[in-house]
Amino acid sequence: MAKKTTTVFFCQECGHESSKWMGQCPACKNWNTFAEEKVNVTNSKITPFRDAAKPVKIGSISMREEERMCTGIAELDRVLGGGIMHGSLTLVGGDPGIGKSTLLLQMCRLLANAGRKVLYISGEESLKQIKLRAIRIGEFQDTMLLLCETNLGIVEETIRHTEPEVVVIDSIQTMYQESVSSAPGSVSQVREATNVFLQLAKGMGTSIFIVGHVTKEGTVAGPRVLEHMVDTVLYFEGDRYASYRILRGVKNRFGSTNEIGVFEMRKEGLIEVENPSEYMLSGKPVGASGSVVVCSVEGTRPILIEIQALVCRTNFGIPRRQTTGTDFNRVNLLMAVLEKRLGLQIGDCDAYVNIAGGMKINEPAIDLGLIMAIVSSFKNRAVDEKTIVFGEVGLSGEVRAVSMAQQRVQEAKKLGYETVIMPRVNLEGMDKIDGIRTIGVGGIGEAIDVI
Ligand SMILES: Nc1ncnc2c1ncn2[C@@H]1O[C@H](COP(=O)(O)OP(=O)(O)OP(=O)(O)O)[C@@H](O)[C@H]1O
Ligand SMILES: [Mg+2]
Repeated sequence: MAKKTTTVFFCQECGHESSKWMGQCPACKNWNTFAEEKVNVTNSKITPFRDAAKPVKIGSISMREEERMCTGIAELDRVLGGGIMHGSLTLVGGDPGIGKSTLLLQMCRLLANAGRKVLYISGEESLKQIKLRAIRIGEFQDTMLLLCETNLGIVEETIRHTEPEVVVIDSIQTMYQESVSSAPGSVSQVREATNVFLQLAKGMGTSIFIVGHVTKEGTVAGPRVLEHMVDTVLYFEGDRYASYRILRGVKNRFGSTNEIGVFEMRKEGLIEVENPSEYMLSGKPVGASGSVVVCSVEGTRPILIEIQALVCRTNFGIPRRQTTGTDFNRVNLLMAVLEKRLGLQIGDCDAYVNIAGGMKINEPAIDLGLIMAIVSSFKNRAVDEKTIVFGEVGLSGEVRAVSMAQQRVQEAKKLGYETVIMPRVNLEGMDKIDGIRTIGVGGIGEAIDVI
């Protein structure tokens, strides 16, 4: 077949394809994001996965003894759904400098120490620079191989030749295929490279981790299809000014999503935080009004977090509302509920709500906590320190049931709390837990009376 090159325009933000240039992308509505790229039509050949050419009976597929590899980093294993799946393709995204390379290098180190063959391919740093980071992290075994290369052909050849069990590509935006004329990092290059790694992972059974840069909106740069192609998408996030980092699973074909792993960035690399609640609550003020501890569930894991609110009379005509770490509209809504259902005159008050520790939580179970914090600040009366609250609040001021109530109460007990204010509906269906007082409430008025 004759090789045919056509010119296509791609939106560099979302990967939308068009035959002509457009000022605004019809898919993601961004302006001035279309760039011209040359595409080889004959190039997009389909290579079948190994053993996939003819249909087989599901019963005849043999499973390997150990389908998952434990990385030795418990937080990472949990987010991955219990370890690295053989032949899986994982995308790790995150802001610049958040610690993606550090985390993956630490993972490689532990895997190599466990006797597995690991290949770390970097297109961003030189061997010496990687070595510098490696020295900070610790000792490495000889089963850990390094390669600095951006040419996709050479990378593919090396992976086929060395047959490692785990490969890390840092980053996908630096890889380029010579036959694709557009620049590295462009939509067609990223798509082509991911396709190559997909074939390698599924064909050879190698587990491949790809580092992806994020756009200013916080999604992985390049085409949206990238997230569809890979098995697992992990986001590494954290406050630029805080040392803790959160690894979050947003897509996982082999495990639950919304699991999080908590790490702390130190000189010697990322350290796992085994008890995030304790970490999040460190430095909580004593006897201050507007501070309430709530229990939020991230994945399967309850975490205690402090909510702080500051409510004061406004000096301007229009009150100022500001939230950090939680949904702005939700706080406005809850303040309206307070005003309407309890007759609290907070409509002309400024309100600042902050989730301490820099976590971002949008779980409805923290509603009751938000309400408590706002009321506590408004009335200038502190909430008892040994009390935690959780529950969803409806528009009529009712406190509604939330999931995993038992685990939330248990976590509170573990950290030495004495009283839990929770939805009454949840309390009825729960086993008795000794050593902690549980108070069921049906509405926000009741909850405030208790405190
Ligand atoms: N000596 C050190 N002590 C403490 N922290 C350090 C030290 N050196 C580096 N760091 C931390 O490591 C981070 C860089 O980590 P890393 O290079 O893994 O990030 P990355 O996500 O791969 O970034 P990029 O997107 O640029 O590749 C720095 O932002 C810094 O916080
Ligand atoms: Mg990096």
